[in-house]
Amino acid sequence: MRYFGGRALALGAAAVIGSAVPAVCGAQQANGDADLLKAAQAAFQPLPKDMATPEFPIPPARVELGRNLFFEARVSADGTVSCSRCHLSQLYATDGLPKARGAHDKLNPRNAPTVLNAALQFKEHWRGDRENVEDQAKRSLLGPAGFGSPDYATAMARLKAIPGYTALFQKAFPGEADPVTPDNWGKAIGAYERTLTTPSRFDDFLKGRTDALTAAERKGLRRFIDTGCTACHNGPGVGGGMFQKFGLVEDYWKETGSKEIDKGRIDVTHDDADLYVFKVPILRNVAMTPPYFHDGSVGTLPEAVRVMAKVQLGKTLSEAESAEIVTFLESLTGPLPADFANAPILPAAGFDEGRGATPGK
Ligand code: HEC
Ligand code: HEC
Repeated sequence: MRYFGGRALALGAAAVIGSAVPAVCGAQQANGDADLLKAAQAAFQPLPKDMATPEFPIPPARVELGRNLFFEARVSADGTVSCSRCHLSQLYATDGLPKARGAHDKLNPRNAPTVLNAALQFKEHWRGDRENVEDQAKRSLLGPAGFGSPDYATAMARLKAIPGYTALFQKAFPGEADPVTPDNWGKAIGAYERTLTTPSRFDDFLKGRTDALTAAERKGLRRFIDTGCTACHNGPGVGGGMFQKFGLVEDYWKETGSKEIDKGRIDVTHDDADLYVFKVPILRNVAMTPPYFHDGSVGTLPEAVRVMAKVQLGKTLSEAESAEIVTFLESLTGPLPADFANAPILPAAGFDEGRGATPGK
């Protein structure tokens, strides 16, 4: 387990506050900027160009296949569900709903997070019950509130029934006798996801160009660090590197107004220490992805920031202070990758026989 109690956290925050220099003018301003840059570089890293690893490489043919599959709905139980149904490019790879709806309109238990930069994370899903993006993509096929396929064989049969895919799989996985497999579905979509990074002006700042952020954004960054947010939201994703209890100081639902209480990771591990524990989400593009939290219970970013300070750090932020943090968080929005903003043209085909010519039949 990679978490820590409130004590270690308070110490960490105090250490950061100790290094704060009030920036006033001239030389002092430059000192303040240099200090801020140092503090930021201690907590964050710029986004990598892509998120390939030796185990999960991104050869172009695999990425191209994965891009097609990401937008492919015909493989789902009712012919309406693709990854892009819940991770829309128009909404920065989310769906704008508190909780996503899958095949046959079945309600998901949780909110759909963004897919952008998601491959950076140490685990996937709010409760960390998926190892990586490949595992996540493969198992989406079966989820009743996702693609809703009864088994992998049915999903693969639907895919094979669309002429064109077998050749694309052969190109993406050369030398394999039967490349249309659930593992390769996961690897291809994963390869595509590993290309979806969204560097922003914040990355230019982290690389040393302090004027890449406006004075107001730098002030917000300073507030974010001094308030203690970086204890959990750090690394290249500004989060995505650890599990934490949601509600360290007080029960989260008292501030979020959540109607149903999700117990978090304990339902995955059955370890009492995981009660109300969730993955710390990445905050890249967070201004573009409301509603917030695992249950979509909070509609706006200023409110989400207020709740976080209250339940994680026991701090009551003034409206001005939380607005400063929001201004900083807005600088984490990067342009959409072109390959994500534009949907591909998919291999053409009719509906498979079992489904008939009427979608949803
Ligand atoms: C019906 C809506 C829906 C569909 C379809 C869907 N997702 Fe998701 N996605 C979600 C929800 C909801 C979650 C959060 C689940 C959880 O944490 O319990 C999620 C989580 C994820 C995550 C983890 C992000 C993170 O920060 O932890 C990734 C990556 C992802 N989806 C990619 C995909 C891919 C790839 C596909 C297609 C194979 C897909 N999704 C299909 C709704 C959907
Ligand atoms: C002790 C760890 C911790 C600290 C400190 C912390 N957070 Fe969080 N943050 C989390 C966790 C865990 C979640 C996920 C909560 C859930 O289950 O929805 C989260 C969620 C969020 C979200 C919602 C993201 C989304 O996509 O829904 C925002 C915004 C956020 N935090 C901002 C902040 C800010 C701003 C601060 C400082 C005031 C902060 N956090 C401090 C752990 C922390």
